[in-house]
Amino acid sequence: MNDILDLDRYPLDREGSAEWRRLVERSIEALRADGMFNLEGFLRPGVAEQAVREIKPVMDTRSHVHKRMHNIYFKPSIPELAPDHPALRKVETISHTVCADQIPGSTVISIYEYQPLVRFLAATMGKEELHVMQDPLARTNVMAYRAGEALNWHFDRSEFTTTLLLQQSLRGGDLEYRTDLRSDDDPNYEGVARLLEGRDPDARILRMKPGTLNVFRGKNTAHRVTTVEGERERMIAVFSYYEKPGVTFSAEERVGFYGRAA
Ligand SMILES: [Fe+2]
Repeated sequence: MNDILDLDRYPLDREGSAEWRRLVERSIEALRADGMFNLEGFLRPGVAEQAVREIKPVMDTRSHVHKRMHNIYFKPSIPELAPDHPALRKVETISHTVCADQIPGSTVISIYEYQPLVRFLAATMGKEELHVMQDPLARTNVMAYRAGEALNWHFDRSEFTTTLLLQQSLRGGDLEYRTDLRSDDDPNYEGVARLLEGRDPDARILRMKPGTLNVFRGKNTAHRVTTVEGERERMIAVFSYYEKPGVTFSAEERVGFYGRAA
């Protein structure tokens, strides 16, 4: 794994050492202050490009195209909101997904399953333990966004999202986010409407570099990936971990997300 991950800079393999604890503490502090942490240069030079070479033939020919209009909640309606409330404004998401079962033995899957990474992530998220998912499709997804495509405004279902950027687009394809736009007690529909109208002064844009591991707390922080411009597609791996072992999606969920049950 030392050829793939920069374990000199990020000592995941020295669990419990002083430098490992420093990295965990720094990551926890960033999550608290900024709602995310980034390990830039997590991949050794050339590894992101190698991972893209492994995935691109599958992405070009057999990826699942997801194209839909949705609101920021991914829900058809919100009981306390009129259907024409500006917080329910529709936006469009278009993406291409490659599932874990299509890239067995790939560099990306070997990183996903690397146990020191799983334990490091658990420590930063304050979890007793984390586990890889058993679902053959959902455990790792690689998403691509081509010119004119975007992952539009949403809140995440899960508390944390772990991603690894493999390739950046020439322009666009940036993470735009509005920290703590809502809270568990306050849905802040007026604030959501303001953001969707492009009038929220607290929205921020982060341009990530390929090879960066990002952990993001996206349940109450609205976020999107801005529309990609130019010929190079943005490619990002999404890693799914759970506190319980053996988690899978239902067949219905797989069809909904990937267009197939197996
Ligand atoms: Fe998200």
